[in-house]
Amino acid sequence: MRCVAIEELKAGDRLARDVYAGGELVPLLRAGVRVSDSYRSSLQRVGITAVWIDDAFSEGIEPVEMLDEATKHRAKSAIQDAFHDVTRSMKTGGSLSERVVEDMHAVAEQIIRDIARNVHSALALNDLATADAYTLAHSLDVTTLGLSIGMRVMRTFGWLDALDKRRYDDVENRLVPLGVGLLLHDIGKLAVPPEILHKAGPLTGDEWTAVRAHPMLGIDILKKADGISPLARAVVRSHHERWNGSGYPDGKSGTDIHQFARIAAAADVFDALTSDRCYRAARAACEGYDFVVTRAGIDFDPEVVDIFKSFVAPYPPGTRVVLSDGHCGLVKDVCQDAVTRPVVRIVMDPSGAVVDPWEVDLSTSPELDIVGTEFSVPERTAA
Ligand SMILES: [Fe+2]
Repeated sequence: MRCVAIEELKAGDRLARDVYAGGELVPLLRAGVRVSDSYRSSLQRVGITAVWIDDAFSEGIEPVEMLDEATKHRAKSAIQDAFHDVTRSMKTGGSLSERVVEDMHAVAEQIIRDIARNVHSALALNDLATADAYTLAHSLDVTTLGLSIGMRVMRTFGWLDALDKRRYDDVENRLVPLGVGLLLHDIGKLAVPPEILHKAGPLTGDEWTAVRAHPMLGIDILKKADGISPLARAVVRSHHERWNGSGYPDGKSGTDIHQFARIAAAADVFDALTSDRCYRAARAACEGYDFVVTRAGIDFDPEVVDIFKSFVAPYPPGTRVVLSDGHCGLVKDVCQDAVTRPVVRIVMDPSGAVVDPWEVDLSTSPELDIVGTEFSVPERTAA
């Protein structure tokens, strides 16, 4: 399967994945459906910018799914419940209900189990989110990425206890509060006026101040919630702090920023850069990857970035790539030992002619590099 922009979608193309509109939990269109002109118009109307299709060129290309469908569904509905709870409680002065807090913990545990099962796969986050569903999908993607980083960071570099001593024990027990913090990291955005949060143009100074208040608004919202640990609260409060002290709300730097917040910062920025523009996902994923990697020691904890670059795929399966010898193809597989050098299925030669697909493994072809991610996949034959 591969991802195409709505404008490129043709009548007769077959959807490879369910398509969700807004924050809905039931798909608008199911995988396997052949797209008609009217379906395409409906997708455009609800703000879907790209979809996954199966075609002859991408047959057999299957991005590794970190989370089961059941986990995703449960997580999304738990996050949605939490959002509803908070919206209600802002009017009544209450807080997250006990049931929602319990759900958050159960969901975090379920995500951790799924991630642990796929611990040897390169991480390719390439789900689609529409603008309406952004916060929901973003919370889930940041949680998946943040927990995947956190698990490896704590196993590799340990964690600092209250006496600043590095420890390597108890990692598993720390993952649940990390997950809960990641699920709720942007909960304070519910207290930011939506017309500011979703404003299309540049923000004024006052509007920026309102947006930048969301970590502390989140802490306020959670103040009365029982069962949210200080570790989870550290993520909510400090995920916009930066390694060099240029972040907010407290302007902390280095290891004064809680390790969980340093993990969340990298996951949050990568996901924000790569979400909601799937037809450019190839370019966006590698741009997001490069951004995080080059900002090590500036915005992000170098230890976190070391782990990040070892297992996050800058070119996820289904991505279009142009090679240095002029051949073009789709990424077929990414091996965790060489995340920047995937296996590519060549579909076009340097003259632009369609070829019988063949594969090249860049991890064993040092003479070839990826030099671009933009080319038009030729007219396809439906699979
Ligand atoms: Fe945030």
